[in-house]
Amino acid sequence: MNYPQAMQVLNFSEKGDARGRLVALEGSSAVCPFEIKRCYYIYDTTPGTVRGKHAHRRLKQLLVCVSGSCTIRCDRGNGQVEDVVLDWPDKGLYLEGLVWHDMLHFSKGAVLMVLASDHYDESDYIRDRAEFDREVAR
Ligand code: TYD
Repeated sequence: MNYPQAMQVLNFSEKGDARGRLVALEGSSAVCPFEIKRCYYIYDTTPGTVRGKHAHRRLKQLLVCVSGSCTIRCDRGNGQVEDVVLDWPDKGLYLEGLVWHDMLHFSKGAVLMVLASDHYDESDYIRDRAEFDREVAR
């Protein structure tokens, strides 16, 4: 494999008190091991839709469903597909490099926030599954 590949489910510490709850995420920390250069969020998703359907070459991302829930279907090209359900804002999924991922089962009102290590760069995307399989086998 010529590119990195990592996937990890993370639990953030919640700072709760009588007023409610708060999670703070800082770049270059244990839970977000990269400098945050971009944030995007997916919301108002059409029922039944599946997003993603790609992998990255080098990008590092931290996915957090800050409202509602959704499922991230992850495939490292090893014959095993893992579904990670993000259903609370204290839970995150770290993805780096060659992990093919789909985003699906968005609940009504779900907001999926993604912190990323780099600016948007289409040349970092692998959108063709056969190309992904070739990269993993390389
Ligand atoms: P797309 O890659 O299809 O979203 P997803 O893989 O999450 O389903 O992106 C949809 C559009 O938004 C596409 O035209 C590219 C654009 N886009 C940006 O301009 N910047 C970004 O950071 C992202 C993630 C997408």
